[in-house]
Amino acid sequence: MMKPADRITRLPQQFFAGLVNLAVDLKEQGRPVINLGQGNPDQPTPPDIVEALKRAADNPRYQRYIPFAGLPELKQAVARWYQRQHGVTLDWSTEVAILIGSKIGLQEISLAVLNPGDAALVPDPGYPDYWSGIRLAGAQMIPWRLSPGTALPDISRLDRTVGLAFLNYPNNPTGRIAPAAFFDAVIAQALKTGTVLAHDLAYGDIVYDGMRAVSLLARPGGKAAGIEFTTVSKSYNMAGFRLGFAAGNPELIRYLETLQDHLSCSQYGAIQEAAITALDSPAAAVETVRALYQKRRDHFLSALAEEGWSVPAAQGSIFQWIPLPPGAPPSVPFAEELARQTALIVAPGRGFGEGGEGFIRISLTESEETLKRAARLLGQYAQTAARS
Ligand SMILES: Cc1ncc(COP(=O)(O)O)c(C=O)c1O
Repeated sequence: MMKPADRITRLPQQFFAGLVNLAVDLKEQGRPVINLGQGNPDQPTPPDIVEALKRAADNPRYQRYIPFAGLPELKQAVARWYQRQHGVTLDWSTEVAILIGSKIGLQEISLAVLNPGDAALVPDPGYPDYWSGIRLAGAQMIPWRLSPGTALPDISRLDRTVGLAFLNYPNNPTGRIAPAAFFDAVIAQALKTGTVLAHDLAYGDIVYDGMRAVSLLARPGGKAAGIEFTTVSKSYNMAGFRLGFAAGNPELIRYLETLQDHLSCSQYGAIQEAAITALDSPAAAVETVRALYQKRRDHFLSALAEEGWSVPAAQGSIFQWIPLPPGAPPSVPFAEELARQTALIVAPGRGFGEGGEGFIRISLTESEETLKRAARLLGQYAQTAARS
């Protein structure tokens, strides 16, 4: 028998694996499954980005190893993007790292700054992938409860014992954004306690109703306090390309690139060229993506309201967070029974931490018609679930 290393057994369980299996079983039974459990963008990558990839595939430069830290031209495009989107000036040569998807960067930052036994705060409810890097580093994960109303955590929880704190706005799973004043307060506290801030801005472009996402790096002291993660996955429907970025504190960027020197050689150059085209796209391209999700959110919410179930609208992200009605069972049995009875798959809030109990999350990555159908199924099912 091959015995795994402790770091393998330490990894958190894949909470949603059970539901994924259930979706497969239902499909095999020929049931018409609607899967709103995962956030996998359904729209095609814009054709000019795919064309850039195809052109670059012919470039012999990318058939050989390229610099381990990635293409300088892509780092320059990231710096242009930050200037344009957030008014942030970056030194591309020291303040930007290229990642093989932001997911990997979110693990690398834990490996880069945490020692065994150190403590790291993770939003609860929050994106479960933050947990993995902390565990790989042998560090201790401390849930950082988000207020059910605002989705903001208690900043005073950040003290000298905390080595790293994750933030994520627009937030997955709650769909809430955070005001600039929150960032200012958390930066001031982190600079006092010496805690590294890691802000996940994966949904920074997808904010609704004229609101704007705040970049950590745009706030005073933000660059001194931490690092920010962005990705082309959602804004440009490029989840399969596997490309993301870290930007901010040059020391942290250097640690990430040191790890990368040992663990990986940079992403395929043609994909990096495609990302340059994406980041330099006219604003209209991202606006199309943002507007589509907003329209889907609105259709879903009005169909749910017709079932007598009104919930606060997501402010951003590609998700809608839904409080379960009074009398409903906990989120896991609710989601499992919903799937069995209606073949609608949703993510139970408990999978995002204890603070997610009493909620479910649906993803807006299906058509308006499908989302409306899902809202009707959900509304009808919730009425019977609350009664039984
Ligand atoms: C909050 C959040 N951060 C990061 C990611 C990872 O994105 P990627 O690795 O595709 O860049 C996701 C993906 O779903 C996410 O929801």
